Amino acid sequence: MALFNKKTEKKAEFSTLPNHLGIIMDGNGRWAKKRGLPRTAGHKQGAESFKKIAQECDRLGIKEVTFYAFSTENWKRPQEEVNQLMKLFYDFLIEAKENLTASGQVRVRFAGEREGIHSELLKLMDEAEAETAERTGTIVNLAINYGGRQEIVAAVNKLIKEGKTEITEDDISNNLYTSADCDLIIRPSGEERLSNFLLWQAAYSEFWYSDVLWPDFDEKDLHSALAEFEKRNRRFGG
Ligand code: FPP
Repeated sequence: MALFNKKTEKKAEFSTLPNHLGIIMDGNGRWAKKRGLPRTAGHKQGAESFKKIAQECDRLGIKEVTFYAFSTENWKRPQEEVNQLMKLFYDFLIEAKENLTASGQVRVRFAGEREGIHSELLKLMDEAEAETAERTGTIVNLAINYGGRQEIVAAVNKLIKEGKTEITEDDISNNLYTSADCDLIIRPSGEERLSNFLLWQAAYSEFWYSDVLWPDFDEKDLHSALAEFEKRNRRFGG
């Protein structure tokens, strides 16, 4: 019944949906600054937007969504901010584990370099991946310690270790953290750049920008992006 509902809603709302959606969660710092709050307050509110939007992607029937949560460059931020972000990821994974109904049918996956991430967080991520693997809902990739260039290099190194001496596009595509093609990338907060996100996957992505800061981003904004995507004429170079 739930599945039936989901399909009906999907048809009624959008004629076409991205199979793989990428979201750059930007503007937390500015959101906090506008309110005279520490940056960490912006990230905390940003985590709420993440949960809301992940749920909405699942309700709409989007197959896969990758959230850019922490880049390989974000380690350069003040230690306190890095710690708080790690704690937010940790808390979310605990919450998802303890409250399976609240996280619906969402499948959680990790996209990024494992080295450098605290072993306790890694353990939780492995558990979340395993415990949600059998679900049928949206695949939610959490890009943590993620860099697009690093991802491609990791894929190539894996292939070298397997003994390959010549590689194809498919070889790389099949060894990325996420699906090979990203159909739509959303970036709020007024910035219009890719910032090392899904470099390979973005080859034929559509882009959608908005001035809304990520902590204020809600279902309505997601719908605006999807409505715009619906109208795009995608030719894939043909
Ligand atoms: C970039 O905006 C945002 C980040 C580096 C962190 C994004 C992380 C979250 C929203 C938390 C997600 C939580 C979970 C549980 C996945 P910025 O803070 O640099 O913004 P600014 O450009 O306004 O300073």
